[in-house]
This record gives sequence, structure tokens and C-alpha cells, in this order.
Amino acid sequence: MIPPGEMIGILGGGQLGRMIALAAANLGYRCHVYAPEADSIAADVCAAFTQGEYDDEPALAAFAAQCAVVTYEFENVAATPLAAVTAHAPLHPPARALEVAQDRVNEKSFVEALGGRPAPWAKVDSMEDLRAAVASIGAPGILKTRRDGYDGKGQWRIVQASDAEAVELPGKPLIYEGFVTFDAEFSVILVRTEAGEVRFWDSAENVHKGGILDRSTVPASPVILAQVEEARALAAKVADALGYVGVLTLEFFATADGPVFNEMAPRVHNSGHWTIEGALTSQFENHVRAICGLPLGSTALAAKGVVMDNLIGDDAHDWPAILSDPANHLHLYGKAAVRPGRKMGHVTRLVL
Ligand SMILES: Nc1ncnc2c1ncn2[C@@H]1O[C@H](COP(=O)(O)OP(=O)(O)O)[C@@H](O)[C@H]1O
Ligand SMILES: [Mg+2]
Repeated sequence: MIPPGEMIGILGGGQLGRMIALAAANLGYRCHVYAPEADSIAADVCAAFTQGEYDDEPALAAFAAQCAVVTYEFENVAATPLAAVTAHAPLHPPARALEVAQDRVNEKSFVEALGGRPAPWAKVDSMEDLRAAVASIGAPGILKTRRDGYDGKGQWRIVQASDAEAVELPGKPLIYEGFVTFDAEFSVILVRTEAGEVRFWDSAENVHKGGILDRSTVPASPVILAQVEEARALAAKVADALGYVGVLTLEFFATADGPVFNEMAPRVHNSGHWTIEGALTSQFENHVRAICGLPLGSTALAAKGVVMDNLIGDDAHDWPAILSDPANHLHLYGKAAVRPGRKMGHVTRLVL
């Protein structure tokens, strides 16, 4: 057990790290952020900050030596250099979870081996591969980079087979996925302790705009609720197979044939931000509790319902209007520059 007062290391300097650090502070911990950028909105609320590259092993080792436990808020950290971290402090979730989740081919293969069902997919490394993938899987579909994609970045929609010819391949490993006809999208967010205790939050119904999460609503619609049990069973299998400690997220499509696995994130998730006010214990606090070996808090709802809206780009300028309604819970991440498509904050409303 790592008692309050100790230092928690966080790899990654964005809003997820910021919200983990705020929850950790409430429990009496201090946090140390490690990130490559000079300005980190997570470090802004932390006791210590190391600016370093994710493959700088001496810097990672020096950072970990100052921490009682290390976690991450960003999954595109190379797994191999993390041996420099684990030599000095426990790393939760394990590096294996990163290796699986940071590559779309690995995550789909891993989940298939556990009985999960993703969209039909094929590896693409050349124009020939792409033609073959579109011929066998069909169009419409989506070509995605295997690594480093987020918020719909690194994706190309193939509406008809001939569109494949117009794609300029980016020279990175890719994957082609058949387009899933879904009724709705939802996520399963769980927390798992080292002893294997698992708790789930209510699944949010997620609506994306332009590949970016726009709104999460709890409770989800009945079509989703009917599929949550099956999706949870898969998520628990994934967590157990990885010996996972902390918060884990799986995204699903609710389809006429049941839940189709989309992707996983080995971390707290945007579709769980509603838990800060909408659940008895937030995803951030339970992540801290799990990685420190504390008892978990209840994941039960704190209201009849919750709606979380992301503030993307210019939306953040609406903060005066948002605050003029006393029922709104405003979260701004403190990012200096507003850019189109950038997550600047979110607003949560409870249905009491
Ligand atoms: N195979 C697919 N079929 C239908 N919609 C998809 C598919 N893949 C992605 N999408 C849509 O694009 C969104 C973002 O894609 P996702 O694979 O989750 O990437 P990211 O890593 O950017 O979140 C999804 O939430 C979904 O709305
Ligand atoms: Mg996604």
C-alpha cells in the first residue's frame, strides 16, 4: 500500500494527468509529471515536473526514483524504455497494457483471442495490401494508422472501392476496417485492483462529431443497456488477462448483432469525465486508489442521470454563458492556445 503523502509519478502532461493529479491531491498525495512538452497543464497542478522525452532512459529512471508508484495518462509511450521506470517504482497499469492498446492490430488480435468481436480488419502496409483489404472486406471502410491516432486523426474514409486509389499512404503501418453500421456507441470503464477486484461505472452513450467525442450521456439508451453485460464481460477478461491495475476503458458499437469492440484505452477516458460529479467516486479517484492499493470507492451514480459535453476549440470561449447557469459544472483544462479540434474543457450537468 502506498499511503497518502507519497509521490505519484504521471507519464504524460495533458488534461487526463491534470485530473488524476487533482484527485490524488484530494487524497493527500503529491504528483510528479514527466512529459516532453515545456508547458504541461498537468504539471501546472503538480508538485514536480520533469521535461523529458519518453525514450530518455536516464531521465525516466531519475524520475521514477523520486516516485512511490508511476502511472500514465497517454498511451503512445514506447513500452521498452519503461524498464527504466520499473527498475525504480511499480508501474500501473502494466507496460503490457500499453503494448497491446497502442497498436490497433495488437489490440484487435488480443481482444479476438479473448472472444471479442471487432469490425472485420486487415493489416495494410502497401497499396497492394489496401486493394486486397478493400476487395475482401468491402467498402465502406476506414483506413487508420495502427499507432498514434486519436480524436479521429490518422484516418481515411473509403466510401467506395475506387477511393482507395486516391489515398496517399503515409508510410506508416496501417489497418483497414470495415465500416460498422451501429445504432449507438458506448464505453465500458472499469477499475481493477491488484487483488483482482473489478468495479464498473455505468456505461455512457457517446456521440462523436468529426471523430471527436462530443457528448456522453448516462444512462445510455435501452439498445445499449441490453448489450452492456456482454461488453463488461469482455472488458473484465481483458483486464484479468493483462493483470491490470487502474482504470481501463473499452469502446463499443451497439449493433443489431450485439456489441462490436472498437478500441481500448489503458487509462481514464474522456467518456468518463461525467464521473467527477455524476458518480460517488470518479474514475480519477478510483484510478489513484487502485494504483496505490487503497480500497476502491463506490462507482454508483450520484444522480438520476448525467450529461457531459466536451468544449472543443472555440466552444471554450462560451465559459461566461456556461457559468451563468448555476447547474453547470465547468472544467477548463488551462490550455494556452485555442485550436480547432482541440479539447479545451468539458461541462457536466446532473439530472437530479
Ligand atoms: N470501423 C468503424 N465503423 C464505423 N465507425 C467508426 C469505425 N471506426 C471508427 N469509427 C468512428 O470514428 C470514431 C473515432 O474512431 P476510433 O477508432 O475510436 O479512433 P480514435 O483513436 O481517434 O478515438 C469512432 O468513435 C466512431 O464514431
Ligand atoms: Mg476512439
